[in-house]
Amino acid sequence: MVVAIDGPSGAGKSTVARAVAAALGVPHLDTGAYYRMATLVCLEAGVEPGDAAGALRALDDVEVDFTPDGHPTLAGRDVADRLRAPDITAAVSIVSAHPEVRAAVVAMQRRWVASRGGDAVVEGRDIGTVVFPDARVKVYLTADVRLRARRRARDAEAAGASLEELVAQMERRDHLDSSRSTSPLKPADDAVVIDTSGLGVAEVVGRILDLVGMV
Ligand code: DC
Repeated sequence: MVVAIDGPSGAGKSTVARAVAAALGVPHLDTGAYYRMATLVCLEAGVEPGDAAGALRALDDVEVDFTPDGHPTLAGRDVADRLRAPDITAAVSIVSAHPEVRAAVVAMQRRWVASRGGDAVVEGRDIGTVVFPDARVKVYLTADVRLRARRRARDAEAAGASLEELVAQMERRDHLDSSRSTSPLKPADDAVVIDTSGLGVAEVVGRILDLVGMV
């Protein structure tokens, strides 16, 4: 059974997806980590983020995986901390917009879930629409952009940026992610949309667990 959790950055996906996965006793997959790993591979190989063919070639040369506790690895190297650095965050929307890169990454994500017996809580932008259109439960988390920026300010990704800068960065990334032609960020037609602005983590997790129990 797949539970798909989509939504923009800072809506609470990771925290909620991890808690739902723990409650259900299934693995959690952070699909943004794949696009961040693809971006890191490009930067390290000297490939321009806009070069789709170069990105695909670079990605072909490395083994992308996760440790048992969910840390992303490239050829066995733990890159969890490196992936949240500002240079990766700035380029990831460009790398992740290439249809060729998306096709390769989506195939990796499906293989990962299949290798876990098909049960997982999968978070991203296109999980309910493209990666697992038959997911048993689809949730789209959203929140006010200023609140999302305030949440992001606590992360390493923020790197000392002001709240106004974070709001501007977030709006730019939301725009790139939702206006790209391949798999844009949007709720699946059959997704349940939850605005997390006024809600605590436990409340959001409880609503999703209710949905899992209902279907
Ligand atoms: O969730 P995140 O911030 O780690 O995602 C990083 C970028 O990857 C984000 O700008 C959009 C992209 N992404 C995507 O296009 N599709 C996904 N399923 C997950 C992330």
